Amino acid sequence: MIIEPRMRGFICLTSHPDGCAENVKNQIEYVKSKGAINGPKKVLVIGASTGFGLASRITAAYGSNAATIGVYFEKPPQQGKTASPGWYNTAAFEHEAHQSDLYAKSINGDAFSDEVKKTTLDLIKADLGQVDLVIYSLASPVRKNPKTEVLHRSTLKPIGGSFTNKTVDFHTGIVSDISIDSANEEEIENTVAVMGGEDWEMWIDALKAENLLAEGALTVAYSYIGPSLTEAVYRKGTIGRAKDHLEATAFTISDKLKDINGKAYVSVNKALVTQASSAIPVIPLYISLLYKVMKEEGIHEGTIEQIQRLYADRLYTGNEIAVDEKGRIRIDDWEMREDVQAKVAKLWEESTTETLPNLGDLAGYKSDFLSLFGFEVDHVDYKAEANEMVAIEGLV
Ligand code: NAI
Ligand code: NA
Repeated sequence: MIIEPRMRGFICLTSHPDGCAENVKNQIEYVKSKGAINGPKKVLVIGASTGFGLASRITAAYGSNAATIGVYFEKPPQQGKTASPGWYNTAAFEHEAHQSDLYAKSINGDAFSDEVKKTTLDLIKADLGQVDLVIYSLASPVRKNPKTEVLHRSTLKPIGGSFTNKTVDFHTGIVSDISIDSANEEEIENTVAVMGGEDWEMWIDALKAENLLAEGALTVAYSYIGPSLTEAVYRKGTIGRAKDHLEATAFTISDKLKDINGKAYVSVNKALVTQASSAIPVIPLYISLLYKVMKEEGIHEGTIEQIQRLYADRLYTGNEIAVDEKGRIRIDDWEMREDVQAKVAKLWEESTTETLPNLGDLAGYKSDFLSLFGFEVDHVDYKAEANEMVAIEGLV
């Protein structure tokens, strides 16, 4: 069928299989062009189908020839109805990987559940024996705790007072003020339950209990800090509390991995357009200004550039892994550069509906957003019939 983008609010209801496949191939080519990384050999990626998790899987496979198992939660296609983009991304990745003689299998389901953990553990046992890297890259609005059966919902709110700042609707380009009420204790706790480190620790406990982590295994989860402009709604808000918890969990996990010389890290990544970040108020305006400045400086990166650099320049250099005063890996170093942030702050003041198209990279934001769903990707013929019923070769 002919597939076009169909927008509803912050999401796109359709996705294009050929555009998603092209994005994956471009990421593979990028990693290959940067040369071999003396990295992991057997990798589990939790949240492997889009964003930073997909880039982590591609970098492991094509930077280090790693066997990869991906866990994700995506909607399969139905006749006449497209799958969610992570489905097509995974189908394309696994097809390419198999062509390249790389092991690649995946599990589609709720990573927070005991069932999906068990299926994954059984697969590792049967096929890989052990893994030497576990990437934890989930972004979800809900989590059912498998022990208590409580369904937690996250919120994106400030803490300790309401917050008003500029935001942009990136579909219309309208810049307006948004006020967000302060979160209560329950909302904070729920957000920490969803996006904090509890599930990460459950995964590592389960893997370790069955001796599925290799000697010296690493596990890495992703966090964000960002500037004072977005602090009230991000780092000092409910999601920031969850990230504090995630970062603290790295130390708890590292203690538990001492006997196998393993270690847990949090990597602080750059702000990027993903399905997760486009739903956060204020962030899209910040990202459109950040993109503009970083592109002008020639230091703009997407998820694949970020993760390739994380593996090559941080995790697998052969030297000790460099961390900040809180033990975190910083790959947001270029975003947080003082000159970059000073320029963004100035543009922020000047941004209005009228000025933003020139001051910010709204066009880049929009096209990155559509590209997440496989639209507006170069070399894809959108007028041609596309096959929506794409299968994932390695789906367990
Ligand atoms: P994303 O939305 O592109 O990816 C989320 C992944 O999680 C997908 O593979 C999805 O299928 C999977 N997933 C969601 N719920 C699931 C469930 N219940 N079971 C199994 N899989 C599930 O998000 P993105 O942006 O790549 O986020 C990944 C991590 O990176 C998050 O921790 C996020 O906070 C962090 N991060 C994101 C930044 C950004 O600007 N986008 C910046 C820095 C960190
Ligand atoms: Na991800």
